[in-house]
Formats: sequence, structure tokens, C-alpha cells
Amino acid sequence: MAAKTVRFAVANDLHAQFAPSATMHTGYPGANARAEWFFSQTKPGGALDGVDFIMGAGDFIHGENLASIGTEMAALKERLGRLPVPFHPCCGNHEVRQQEGDTAWEAPYVRAFGADRFDYAIPAGAAEVIVLNNAGTYHVTAARREARLENFRRLLRARPGVPKILVCHIPLLPVRDNAVLRESFGFLSYKALEVELLDALELEGRDVQLIISGHLHLTGMAESGGVRQLVTSGTASFPHDYPVVTVTPDAIAVEVRSLPAELHEPRTNLHGRPRYQKDYTDSAHPTADAYLRGNADERAFTIPL
Ligand SMILES: [Fe+2]
Ligand SMILES: [Fe+2]
Repeated sequence: MAAKTVRFAVANDLHAQFAPSATMHTGYPGANARAEWFFSQTKPGGALDGVDFIMGAGDFIHGENLASIGTEMAALKERLGRLPVPFHPCCGNHEVRQQEGDTAWEAPYVRAFGADRFDYAIPAGAAEVIVLNNAGTYHVTAARREARLENFRRLLRARPGVPKILVCHIPLLPVRDNAVLRESFGFLSYKALEVELLDALELEGRDVQLIISGHLHLTGMAESGGVRQLVTSGTASFPHDYPVVTVTPDAIAVEVRSLPAELHEPRTNLHGRPRYQKDYTDSAHPTADAYLRGNADERAFTIPL
């Protein structure tokens, strides 16, 4: 029997602060309203009406310290509980302030989602989604690095022949010219820095068709070695993009959409003005707009299965 069609939307980099805390960090202006718009679209007639689930790709909350992480995660969890469809999380650095594998910092995430929601798999029609926690790249301990690799290899080896969509907060592959991206993002975590993940992908990742990540707060897609890496800006930062993924029996189709223009806040752009005194371009993106949003073939594409 042919697998049924499954459609999901990805929520990443919401940086929501749905409840205030005494230690609350200054977040992204308008982030709560944009996150709420996204969740509200699952209602009948909304832009996400009919999706089978929401896939999280990290940085749901802004956090920055343990007290605020606890408060913001609890408030987020309450909002997620009112969604009409399941929400499948992926841990981002803002959920744990880069402390991947540290039980104290991971406690709010565990309370919200469970200890088994860091590295796991869920079916998605003819494919499956595998989720890997790489939220602490560069800061990661040797012990967690080893555990993470083993989890990744276990997920890659399970169910051979089933096409896999990997979701991890920090992209494995750069979606802009490497040196330019490192400069425009301004943090060392502009891509996952632990090379053993790429080795595992090359040696045991033949079923992986697509990698979906966030973290960069820009939108782009690049192909390398037959794998496509998609990154979307998410809702907090301009240009406020999110993807909708449709898995049919014979293809994975990706469509990147933008939030309504009235919700846009250009001051939230991380890769150009006003954060820097200049905007950025690279070899395939000759304008600042193309650098932030990606070219047309990065925003809509189909992968045959
Ligand atoms: Fe983020
Ligand atoms: Fe992030």
C-alpha cells in the first residue's frame, strides 16, 4: 500500500518570551506576536490548516539564563498544548544556553517535552524525520560529543532504505560562501563544527535526502554530496520565513513562505544593517535581499524519492 501524503510546517527561531521573568533578557522586538501568528495559523482556514504536525527546529524561546529559560519554556508549553496538531521539538542553543548534554540546563526542556525528545525519529509518510540535538556546537563536551555521534549513527542506521529528513538546529552544511557566512553571522556556530557528524553523514547517511535547520536567522538551501541543506530564518528575525514540507509517496516538496508583511520588523535582521554598518552578498547572492532570502530555487524545490 502506498504511504499517505504527510505535510508539516517547521517552527524555528521563534525566540518567544510568552511570560516575563525577573531576569528576562532583551529579545527580538515583535517576536511574541510573530510566534503567536504562526501557532494561530493551525486554526481552520489558517495558512497551516491541514498540516499533520509542527516540527520544531530549535530556539523556541529566548532564554539566556536558567530562570528565564524555565519561565519561558513553561509558557511556551502551555501555548503548544492548545495546538490542534502535535508539536515535535528539536533542541536549540537558546533552550539550553549552549549547554548541550548538561542535565541542569536541559531540565526545563525535559520538563516540557520529555528526556527522549532530544535525539529521536518520527514517521512521515514515505519518509521519516530524524531529530539530532547539536545545540551546543563548539561549546560541546567530549562526553556529549561522543554520545551525540552514537545517537546520530543509531538514527542513520535504523530502518535502512527509508528516506530520512534530518532536523538539527545548527546546520551541518553552509548555505552561503563559508567565509562570508561566518562573518555575517558573527558567531562561531555558523555551522556544526564537529566534523565527525559529516563523516557519519557521508559513511552512513545514504538515506538522508534533506537536512532542515535554523539558527542562522536567514533563509537558504545548498546541495552537497546529494544532500540538501535547508535553513529558514524563522519567525523572530527578518525576513521571517518558515518552510512547509510535503512528503508524497514519490517526492519531498519544500515551499518556503514569509510571514505577512505587516508583521515584518527589518531591525531584527542579523546579517546586515542595523546590526552592522553594511549589508552582505556572496557569489550566488548579488543583493542583500537575495543574501537574506535565498534565490527562488532555494525557496521552492522538490526531491524525488
Ligand atoms: Fe535563533
Ligand atoms: Fe540558535
